Amino acid sequence: MSSRRPIAALPDLLISQIAAGEVIERPASVLKELIENAVDAGSQSIEIRLEAGGIRRIAVIDDGSGIAPHEMALALTRHATSKISSLSDLESVNSMGFRGEALASIAAVSHLTLTSRTRQAEHAWSFQSGGAAPVAAAGALGTTIDVRYLFDSVPARRKFLRAEATEFGHCIDAIERIALAFAQVGFRVFHNDRAVRQWLPASALQRISDVLGPEFNEHGIAVNAQGALLSLQGVVTRPTAARARADRQFLYVNGRHVRDRTVAHAIRSAYADVLHGDRQPAFVLFLQIEPTLVDVNVHPAKHEVRFRDSGAVYRFVSQTITQALAGTAGTQSGGVSAMPDPPGQPSAKPHAGEPAWNPSGQHALHLREPPSSAQRHPAAWQPFYQPLTEDAPTWPLGRALAQVHGIYILSQTAQGLALIDMHAAHERVMYEQLKQALDTHALPQQTLLVPVVFRVTEKELALAQECHDHLVALGFEMAPAGPQSMTLRSVPAMLARGDLEALARGVLRDLDHIGASRLLTEQRNTLLATMACHGAVRANRQLTVEEMNALLRQMEQTERADQCNHGRPTWIHWSVSDLDKLFLRGQ
Ligand SMILES: Nc1ncnc2c1ncn2[C@@H]1O[C@H](COP(=O)(O)OP(=O)(O)OP(=O)(O)O)[C@@H](O)[C@H]1O
Ligand SMILES: [Mg+2]
Repeated sequence: MSSRRPIAALPDLLISQIAAGEVIERPASVLKELIENAVDAGSQSIEIRLEAGGIRRIAVIDDGSGIAPHEMALALTRHATSKISSLSDLESVNSMGFRGEALASIAAVSHLTLTSRTRQAEHAWSFQSGGAAPVAAAGALGTTIDVRYLFDSVPARRKFLRAEATEFGHCIDAIERIALAFAQVGFRVFHNDRAVRQWLPASALQRISDVLGPEFNEHGIAVNAQGALLSLQGVVTRPTAARARADRQFLYVNGRHVRDRTVAHAIRSAYADVLHGDRQPAFVLFLQIEPTLVDVNVHPAKHEVRFRDSGAVYRFVSQTITQALAGTAGTQSGGVSAMPDPPGQPSAKPHAGEPAWNPSGQHALHLREPPSSAQRHPAAWQPFYQPLTEDAPTWPLGRALAQVHGIYILSQTAQGLALIDMHAAHERVMYEQLKQALDTHALPQQTLLVPVVFRVTEKELALAQECHDHLVALGFEMAPAGPQSMTLRSVPAMLARGDLEALARGVLRDLDHIGASRLLTEQRNTLLATMACHGAVRANRQLTVEEMNALLRQMEQTERADQCNHGRPTWIHWSVSDLDKLFLRGQ
């Protein structure tokens, strides 16, 4: 047996350095801890000064409550905190900090100076980690924590730091994450003495726009739902503004930015119908939940939480977002113009002229009153050279004028012109109708006058026989016509006008990929999407004006008709003033 050292307690500094490894990974993690402390201290304005990507210096200057000189040494000691004093405090904690670990960890791997002045003190005091006692100093009310030469004493960690620009990028990300949740706090950020960010105290919505850019809200739908023990507020973007990367997904649980699989799945499920699988939604969502129903003490850097009833959270989030996305056609565009401050945050004064909170999140191009029955049947064909202002139709998607290139429907609306992607729109309408019909067991079947015979593989043939009952439930009747051919005798009535062979093949292909057991359960909507795609009108099919108008009216009745099943827009709109701009009229 190899000889070993005797067991000995580790020195305090080494304990702190080991512990720091869990909390402090890079400059951005220091910054997160310092800003959270400043927020916990009730600051209204926070200044951040970085040098060399935060590696050389990170200073956070706040105007919060301050630390009294006799507590300064303690603040840098492990397991010393003013935020909780018992287990029951921990169970209902509403501050960002609670471990009493951050400053000790940072001090163990850097040169840290703390300067602070409380309201009661006549002047500020300054204390250096490892120093003997605080010394009198100059300084305003509040606290400055100055962290220099991160990881100089821990070369192993220093080696893992990336280029300054990369570390700086991580620092900005960390600042943005906190700034989004604390809109009422002003932030100023300097890098190498150059001002790089400044956000004034604002409403929650204005802060989102300031941090993420005004496009975020312009493509956004407001979310605001209140449950008995939890609430969800924020902005989710329209599927049409989805992104290739999941880089704009901000979830907060009681003000804390976290990653959470339950909520992530719930959001994905709400988008499943309207977003292609490889596109990512963007969102800023604040989930508020009764503190006793969530454990915040499950991750060393507090990046995760654990819900006591994750099923309830899942359902709440999924339903709320589904409803938010379920706007019907005619309410496209416009974006969000206001949202309430998440509860628990002192609300900042909204910017002047900001409209009141609109919980439906539907703005611009509003759905009008339902047309009267006299208007319900479109007037006879109107030539499309008719001036746009005359006899403006009252349907949100207007009155169809013509079919363009066999692909688009041109329609005149009350405010301008709309162009509708005929196939995408019809596909969406069909898909929603199929879902509803299947839910209510009202999917009528149509027997074909002339059965369709088509070639299949042995495997497809076997599958069709194996899943015979499922197919019948969906409205299909197929029977083998030979070793490699199939007869299609009936199809769902609403799809009977499409290309039936392609439809049947599409269903068999899904059956093969999905498997019978999930066909009518988890993967049902995938199958319905395939069916809708094959049932929808194809390009170049000539539609009558009545057919076009019927499609527009169906779209107005259909949830989520603004996007096709793949998240692309189904229609676009130009107001008369948009058109005027195109023609430089009045300029
Ligand atoms: N900017 C600040 N203003 C006022 N007090 C502060 C500030 N920063 C730290 N403190 C005081 O120092 C204590 C220790 O801070 P530290 O960040 O180490 O622990 P914590 O915030 O209590 O818990 P956690 O480790 O979870 O962050 C805090 O409890 C708080 O009382
Ligand atoms: Mg802290």
